[in-house]
Amino acid sequence: MLAVPGLATLVRRELADLPGIHVTDTGNDGRADVLLCEVDPGRERALLELRSVEDVFVELGRTLRTEGDRPPWIARRLLRPARLTSAVNLWRRQSGAGQPRRGRREGPPTYRVVARVLQERAWNRTELRRALSGGVAAAEPSWRTTDPAQLELWALEYARGRFVAGLRLTTAAMRQHGGRRSERPGALRPTVAAAMVALARDPAARATRPVRGRGSTSAGMLLDPCCGSGTILAEAKASGWGVEGRDIDPSAVSASRRNASVASVHQGDARELDLDDASVDACVSNLPFGRQYGVQGEPGAWLADVLSEMARVTRTAGKVVLLVPDIPKAAIPAGLRLRDRHPLRLLGASTAIWVYERR
Ligand SMILES: C[S@@+](CC[C@H](N)C(=O)[O-])C[C@H]1O[C@@H](n2cnc3c(N)ncnc32)[C@H](O)[C@@H]1O
Repeated sequence: MLAVPGLATLVRRELADLPGIHVTDTGNDGRADVLLCEVDPGRERALLELRSVEDVFVELGRTLRTEGDRPPWIARRLLRPARLTSAVNLWRRQSGAGQPRRGRREGPPTYRVVARVLQERAWNRTELRRALSGGVAAAEPSWRTTDPAQLELWALEYARGRFVAGLRLTTAAMRQHGGRRSERPGALRPTVAAAMVALARDPAARATRPVRGRGSTSAGMLLDPCCGSGTILAEAKASGWGVEGRDIDPSAVSASRRNASVASVHQGDARELDLDDASVDACVSNLPFGRQYGVQGEPGAWLADVLSEMARVTRTAGKVVLLVPDIPKAAIPAGLRLRDRHPLRLLGASTAIWVYERR
């Protein structure tokens, strides 16, 4: 599986709750976090339903790079024809491809090979890609290479000297979570929003507590006070939260309402929220400290005001989960205690998910 760089730890936690799936190794191929798993037969679907994962593959082979190793030798060890056949059968079953349509069976699939390597001193990724394409052509002479293609074979050096090859089971739809009806610059990746929402969950309290005056939901009420186009709200709603959204920009309010299909999004200033004390179970937000959006006034004072409003509206033991590169100690109100920090990389920039608990 591939995840946004830095999210592997959180995906691993999510997998720990799923029976029949065991993580055997993790790494990073220079662009994404890579998680290798063993999956009991029949449990593959559970991986395809994970919301914090970008892509799922069925493994074709693993190998180590040795001194003086060459791409054709690595390709031969990574690509076993029998495993390729069973991987393609799994791909056909889950994608519905290659099934008879109007009485006719579709022709041989098209394919492309993607290779990522961490060290290009002795040889480069193009050589590995060519060697793998040659291996596929020898095993399946009727298949044609195209780009885009129906089948994608990826070979990744996911840690120095460690290679894995897989057949991609997913498309971009996996990471887009159904897509957005209204686009707005600076929107968050839905997989990151999903990981943040998962961190806001309170395992002990969920499923039983009715939510004050707003109807009952299983997970509680979640507020994003800087909701932009509503990616976090949409993820929260999909995980059973009731949601409230605020944004200072009216165009964000209408985008959020469309994308999350909720009416409870209003124009408002996160420094002065129109909500009662302890009225939400969690605050989750991607704060405007990026390339697209700035804050009003001095950044340190803005952050301190917004954090103190979030502490005010969040109930005791509720979570405040924020995506922002840095939170200086001076900005944290007494009501919030730092529980966790997860560094990650988004669009090539370093940032972090911060998890606070309301005291
Ligand atoms: C990084 S964007 C959020 C993006 C959002 N997560 C998404 O997926 O579209 C930050 C948002 O904060 C909003 N914002 C800036 N200052 C604000 C304030 N004082 N109160 C509320 N929202 C504010 C901006 O209008 C912007 O939509």
